[in-house]
Amino acid sequence: MMKLISPSLLSADFGNLQRDIEMLNKSDCDWLHVDVMDGVFVPNISFGQPVVKHIKKHAQKPLDVHLMIVDPGRYVNDFKEAGADILTVHYEACTHLDRTLHAIKDSGMRCGVVLNPATAVALLEDSIQLCDVVLLMSVNPGFGGQKFIENTYNKVRQLRDLCNRKNPNCLIEVDGGVNTDNAPKLFAAGADVLVAGSSVFKSTNPIETIKELKK
Ligand code: DX5
Ligand code: ZN
Repeated sequence: MMKLISPSLLSADFGNLQRDIEMLNKSDCDWLHVDVMDGVFVPNISFGQPVVKHIKKHAQKPLDVHLMIVDPGRYVNDFKEAGADILTVHYEACTHLDRTLHAIKDSGMRCGVVLNPATAVALLEDSIQLCDVVLLMSVNPGFGGQKFIENTYNKVRQLRDLCNRKNPNCLIEVDGGVNTDNAPKLFAAGADVLVAGSSVFKSTNPIETIKELKK
């Protein structure tokens, strides 16, 4: 099991993205989490490929791009070109999940499936073999700063069992409401990667908070 931290740029200062990315470059974080929202799959709109391209220019860590858009298979090549290293798509947004995961892999990116809080881990039984990562939402997607849903611990444990059975190399990522209080419990339950937006960017010392999240 690993202990990786992927700070979410959704909580960064969009007027000073370069400055915030350079701070993360110097920190102990492992990936940069990039939340793309279309205003249809989720109520909120964030940013698209042109902004991701600029993030890529400054980032010295892999871009972990979380697509909260309908029918994400249409944009696999665009996000590859924009510089995504890991591309995750929602189970709920893909009619042809197998095809979309293969398309991501074939483009040379690592691929992953995201599950909303009400989507069962058991639904991954026939796609887990294709996944480099599974992202469990611990809030309803769309916004930063929401409260962590406690049932996530059960889902992490269920997913750990599924990975042990069918794909031990698959990473388990958790996104939403992650802070220094729940991070140790999430790692103990079997998570490998924690996304943290507001707990990092609202902190008075983001570099120290990232260190603490990793402990
Ligand atoms: C929510 C996004 C998250 C968000 C997390 O829809 O997928 O990545 O930025 O923010 P916090 O850590 O503040 O819950
Ligand atoms: Zn996210």
